[in-house]
Amino acid sequence: DRLLTFARRQRLETRRIDLNEFVLNLTELLRRTIGTDIDLSTSLASDLWLTEADPGQVENALLNLAINARDAMPNGGRLIIETRNASLDDEAVALIPGLAPGDYVVLSVADTGVGMTAEVKARCIEPFFTTKGPSKGSGLGLSTIYGFARQSGGNLTIYSEPGRGTTVNIYLPRAREEKPSRGDAAKTTTVQPSKGETVLVVEDDDRVRRLTCTRLKELGYGTKEAPNGPAALAILEKSPEIKLVFSDQVMPGGLSGLDLAEVIREKYPKIRVVLTSGYSPDLIGRERVDRLGLKILRKPYQQADLARVIREALEEGAAS
Ligand SMILES: Nc1ncnc2c1ncn2[C@@H]1O[C@H](COP(=O)(O)OP(=O)(O)OP(=O)(O)O)[C@@H](O)[C@H]1O
Ligand SMILES: [Mg+2]
Repeated sequence: DRLLTFARRQRLETRRIDLNEFVLNLTELLRRTIGTDIDLSTSLASDLWLTEADPGQVENALLNLAINARDAMPNGGRLIIETRNASLDDEAVALIPGLAPGDYVVLSVADTGVGMTAEVKARCIEPFFTTKGPSKGSGLGLSTIYGFARQSGGNLTIYSEPGRGTTVNIYLPRAREEKPSRGDAAKTTTVQPSKGETVLVVEDDDRVRRLTCTRLKELGYGTKEAPNGPAALAILEKSPEIKLVFSDQVMPGGLSGLDLAEVIREKYPKIRVVLTSGYSPDLIGRERVDRLGLKILRKPYQQADLARVIREALEEGAAS
């Protein structure tokens, strides 16, 4: 593939590194780069695994993503840099081509900027693709980062919608020597069995929605599906068997997952709601999430985590 051919032009000097150190060391430079209208915050996992990557490429990636975020927020906004561990199973990587199941360290850069249209999102990692005009952008930022991530044994995922900001996640493999003989990803976690309840899946992306239904059926749940909030409410109206709504947070159209949860809380107080999102959780109104007592499952998620979160929400509902 053309993108990978482009990527192989880079020569990588791979070392064992702690991504948190890079974020901390670069924070001052990033602050100066993005200016005072943008509020920069970090959320760094304290138990972060080491990764194996080229230090210069990591710095380049952070700087380029911060500049992209700045360009997307001409009137200011929030920039959030996050690190976290992610153990991914087969199901979790199903929609991320080229990413093998395993343990990864994730670097996320999230902004509250203009976001991307579907057309721009589909092309943004192409070399020389830019919407900024020849004097401003070369269109090499994301393609270089993508190439670096793939060459390092990882990948890139991008969540973006017009007006809803952008979250870019760089997956880098966990450093090898650190791994116990059986990686955490391979650990057999007990999957909590269902009692056959019906779950309504709300998700605008057809492929993600279909896969989510398949995964829930594998766990023994019945499923219904809706592509957006209003359609979900129409289905709830005539489907009293639905016990839980599993909804994406960021969806096009008027209703977000949180908005939908608020309506359901009012109209159907017995129905449980679980949200899922690929965006940085710091961009989702924490105060509303807490007030509604909601759980948010970060995408992509393992089958065992899906099973646990759904089960816990249903049991809480049965207990209250
Ligand atoms: N955070 C973001 N928010 C909105 N759109 C973005 C964001 N990051 C990238 N894009 C879109 O993707 C395009 C490609 O980004 P990329 O970083 O590869 O190139 P560029 O920023 O245009 O130029 P360069 O990085 O080479 O200076 C951008 O022109 C922009 O349209
Ligand atoms: Mg750029």
